[in-house]
Amino acid sequence: MGIVLGIESSCDETAAALVDGERRIVAQRIASQDDAHRPYGGVVPEIAARAHAERIAPLVEAVLADAGMTLDDVYAIAATAGPGLIGGVMVGLVTAKALAMAADKPLIAVNHLEGHALSPRLADPALQFPYLLLLVSGGHCQVLRVDGVGQYRRLATTIDDALGEAFDKTAKILGLGFPGGPAVERLAREGDPKAVTLPRPLLGSAEPHFSFAGLKSAVLRAKQAMVENGASTGSARTEKAGNPQSVRPELVEGQPPRPTYTDADIAAAFQQAALDCVIDRTRRALEGSEGLTALVVAGGVAANQTIRAGLEALAAQFGLPFVAPPLALCTDNAAMIAWAGQERLALAEFAPDPLDIAARPRWPLDPDAAPVRGAGVKA
Ligand code: KG4
Ligand code: ZN
Repeated sequence: MGIVLGIESSCDETAAALVDGERRIVAQRIASQDDAHRPYGGVVPEIAARAHAERIAPLVEAVLADAGMTLDDVYAIAATAGPGLIGGVMVGLVTAKALAMAADKPLIAVNHLEGHALSPRLADPALQFPYLLLLVSGGHCQVLRVDGVGQYRRLATTIDDALGEAFDKTAKILGLGFPGGPAVERLAREGDPKAVTLPRPLLGSAEPHFSFAGLKSAVLRAKQAMVENGASTGSARTEKAGNPQSVRPELVEGQPPRPTYTDADIAAAFQQAALDCVIDRTRRALEGSEGLTALVVAGGVAANQTIRAGLEALAAQFGLPFVAPPLALCTDNAAMIAWAGQERLALAEFAPDPLDIAARPRWPLDPDAAPVRGAGVKA
């Protein structure tokens, strides 16, 4: 099979990549919009859509130039058609449609979640179906049984926030800026997870679903208690870098005890609570599954080393190999979209998508999954 051009624009990364049928990423570029969204502490859909519109065409030109190719050398064009921020999805999908029409190439409309779900197979040719996939990103937190390309059974989802969202909100509460996940992970290394007691929502419950809203609220309360009691915030740490102990507030005689923890302790306690939930819930999903070849993690939060290590240990307990794509394939990228296109092309029943296919803000991978009580409508 020839080369697939992949286009990704569902959130705040504008990305294009060329991937061949032998799993070679021939060229890829990612334009991050972090700087544009940082002042707002989160992704602003309108700003994202405009940025995608400015960047996408030059980015496609650039990856073709990087590979020394033209559109004639491309076999098919794959683009994220949802789920995601609809303005951005439309920019990428319409670009792909225009290129497919102009160059007379097949169009492949890819579900962004399918891109994440199959990305481990781009990195690891040995990974066979069926595998259990923990998909943890800024917008999604699901456990899927992947039986084949296009065959996904959702075993669990979050009833409120996604895991990446919880990391991002924790970062915001701690004033760590945007994007939050990597910042929380860095700060957590300096903290003591036992210094703050945080809840572990749904731990031990029968269904393997997730919940992180209560944990996020507890992080907020812990931070507020710290501030109200006059404890130092993270800014003190920068003054006395490398000595987190120095910002621990002292007990003053005659006054109520102050919380004796730091921002780093909150970050560490949050990460530990999140990890405990992820492990417990994934264990429950593994216990209810048969015939699996591997435990796989994908999505932006899969970049977190603590969570990776915990999942690796869990997989070992079940005698399963643990597969996690390289970090660059975990966060949003276009190589995974091009690869999903390759996987679709290899199906006997492959048919190109029509040029009038719609962009979808919501697009569940498993449309038959039963709605979860209390769950939001996050794909
Ligand atoms: O897959 P992704 O790039 O975009 C979505 O489809 O959402 O995931 C982004 C999410 C963000 O919430 C980000 O904070 C989180 O992944 N993330 C991390 C880490 N790196 C990225 N969370 C925890 N630890 C990290 N190292
Ligand atoms: Zn994603």
